[in-house]
Amino acid sequence: MIYITGDTHGDYDIRKLSSENFPDGKALTRSDYLIVCGDFGLVWDDSPEEHYWRNWLENKPWTTLWIDGNHENFDMLDRFDTDGWHGARVQYISDHIIHIMRGESFELEGKRFFCFGGAESHDKELRRAGVSWWAEELPSPAEMEHGRKTLEAIGWKTDIVITHSFPGKIQEARYGKYEFPSNELNRYFDEIAQKLSFRLWFSGHYHLDESCGEKYHFIYNSIVKLTDTGFEYVG
Ligand SMILES: [Fe+2]
Repeated sequence: MIYITGDTHGDYDIRKLSSENFPDGKALTRSDYLIVCGDFGLVWDDSPEEHYWRNWLENKPWTTLWIDGNHENFDMLDRFDTDGWHGARVQYISDHIIHIMRGESFELEGKRFFCFGGAESHDKELRRAGVSWWAEELPSPAEMEHGRKTLEAIGWKTDIVITHSFPGKIQEARYGKYEFPSNELNRYFDEIAQKLSFRLWFSGHYHLDESCGEKYHFIYNSIVKLTDTGFEYVG
């Protein structure tokens, strides 16, 4: 089984994965996956609390996959080695907590995924560079080009897209022009959305559980389970 949820924000929102809120989780195995759509937040300050919650998550019976959002400590994340997993470049945070790097694709349970983390912090004026904000929250041109090459290699066809922010057109459809002005990443996703054949696209970042048409799904506190034809809400 494959489940998807929104931002966990370190210990702020991780409790959505408790057995009480996510009873399905109790019966899962390491071959079942829970994907966090960015703002994972448990590679942040190396504090005892952070290690407590990472262990808590590691000890859940499933395997956790996550993409980065904007609220990650990118200096700390850089210190983890890059590895291969199901044909994708990843970083093992622990044995069963795996960061999927930007522009990677993999197949699980017959479904193909394309993942691309990152987003722009709305509150960056209130944050300090290298302490609570990192320029790497937005991708480099090389990362974006890598994503295009990956999509080329899979014939611009996937089942599921996992990102932290959405194409500009989806932001604008939900929020209008001004609340989330399009940045280079949103424009990049607009470009991808035009060419890519996909079934479902999930994004965190907006702290919203809502769908925009059949394909685009804002996800935050809810947990969804992928089915053969779509998904269902389970938490
Ligand atoms: Fe967030």
